[in-house]
Amino acid sequence: MSTPSSPQSPAETPCASRRTVLRGAALAGVAGLGAAACDGKTGPKAAAVPTAPVDLGPAADVPVGQARLFREQRLIVSQPVQGQYKAFSAVCTHAGCVADKVDNGKVRCPCHGSEFDVNTGKVLQGPAGDPLPSVPVRSTGGKLIAGPEA
Ligand code: FES
Repeated sequence: MSTPSSPQSPAETPCASRRTVLRGAALAGVAGLGAAACDGKTGPKAAAVPTAPVDLGPAADVPVGQARLFREQRLIVSQPVQGQYKAFSAVCTHAGCVADKVDNGKVRCPCHGSEFDVNTGKVLQGPAGDPLPSVPVRSTGGKLIAGPEA
């Protein structure tokens, strides 16, 4: 006996309101990560990737053949081959929501159900039409660092 999962209410979605985004931008100024909105009109691509190095913690947290969502940093990191890490923005290219789940090689967006490949960023299921933006990532001293070199 199972009940169908109910869609998230707007209050539960990970999307920031336009007001929140604008207030956050005004208060935070330039940060390593920009804000994104979910209205599909603000262009999440411009703010979807880090503009400064981001420490994601121990590289061992992303085992070979698996992927991990770093929701706070809005990044997804996978290690398809030993020592080879891939990182992508977790900001959905459909309307800017942040992915909420990594499972079975897929990243899922909670807002409208788009799915992306964790190793390539390609769209596996729409409505998103564009792949997740790739982000440079490296393992340095046992730590994962995403974003541009310092
Ligand atoms: Fe619509 Fe992600 S924002 S599927």
